[in-house]
Amino acid sequence: MPQTLAEMAVDVLTTADGREKTRKSRAYAAEWFAARKDGGSLPIGQAQPPLRPSRPEQPGLLDPRDVPKRKPGSPQGRIALLHAVAHIELNAVDLHWDIIPRFTDTRMPVGFYDDWVKAADEESKHFKLMCDCLEEEGSHYGALPAHAGMWQAAEDTRDDIMGRLAVVPMVLEARGLDVTPNMIQLFKNAKATSAVKALETIYAEEVSHVAYGSKWFHFLCGRDDVDPVPRFHELVRKYFHGPLKPPFNEEKRADAGMAPDFYWPLVEQST
Ligand SMILES: [Fe+2]
Ligand SMILES: [Fe+2]
Repeated sequence: MPQTLAEMAVDVLTTADGREKTRKSRAYAAEWFAARKDGGSLPIGQAQPPLRPSRPEQPGLLDPRDVPKRKPGSPQGRIALLHAVAHIELNAVDLHWDIIPRFTDTRMPVGFYDDWVKAADEESKHFKLMCDCLEEEGSHYGALPAHAGMWQAAEDTRDDIMGRLAVVPMVLEARGLDVTPNMIQLFKNAKATSAVKALETIYAEEVSHVAYGSKWFHFLCGRDDVDPVPRFHELVRKYFHGPLKPPFNEEKRADAGMAPDFYWPLVEQST
C-alpha cells in the first residue's frame, strides 16, 4: 500500500483501467483529506512518475486529424462528444496526479497538494459521469477512437513547474471554460437531461482548477520576483503549439483569476 502522497499518485498513474484508476484516485483523495481534516497531513514523499501514464487498450488513439468528424446535432455526434469529454477527463485525472510527484524538488506549501488532490478527485467524478452518460446512450468509454497527443503538454513541461501550470490549467483547462456552455446547449436542445446535468457539474467545478493553476503560478512568480504576465506569455509560446482561440469566456476566466492581458496577446501569435 502506498504510504505517501507521491506513491499514491504514481499508483494512480500506473493503473491502466479507467474505472479502476478513478476509483483509486477518489479513495486516495479521501485518505488525504481525512488526514488533513485535523490540520495533519500525510507525508508528500518522493516517487518517480512514469513519463506517460498507463491507459486501457481501448480506446485506440488517433492523430486528431484522423478522428472521424460526426455531425454535432446527431445522436452519433452527441455520443462522440461525450466520448471525447470522457477522454479529456481521464487525461485530466492523470495530469493532476502527475504534478504532485513530478515537482517535489520545488518546495511548495501543503495547500498546493490540497488543490491538485481535490482537482484529481473531481476529474475522477467527471470521468464517471461521462462514462455513465455514454452507457445510458448504449455506448461506453473505449467504443470510439480518441485523440492521441493529449499527454504531450505534460511531457513537454516535465522539467518546468511554471510551464506546466501555464499550459495545463491556465491554457488547456481554461479552454474548457470557453467551449462547455455551447456543449451544454447542444445537449439541452436534444433534451439529454443526464448529459446536461453532468456537463453543468463539470463546468462549475472546472473554474476552480483554472484558479488553482493561476494561484500557484502567481505564487511562484511572487517568490521569484518575476512579472507574471510576460512570464506566462513566454512559457505558453515555448510549450503550447498554436495560437489561443477566441471567443474566450472572459467572465469565468476572471473568476479563475485570469485577467484578459494573460490570454488576448497570445491570439494568433504563438508558434
Ligand atoms: Fe473535469
Ligand atoms: Fe479540470
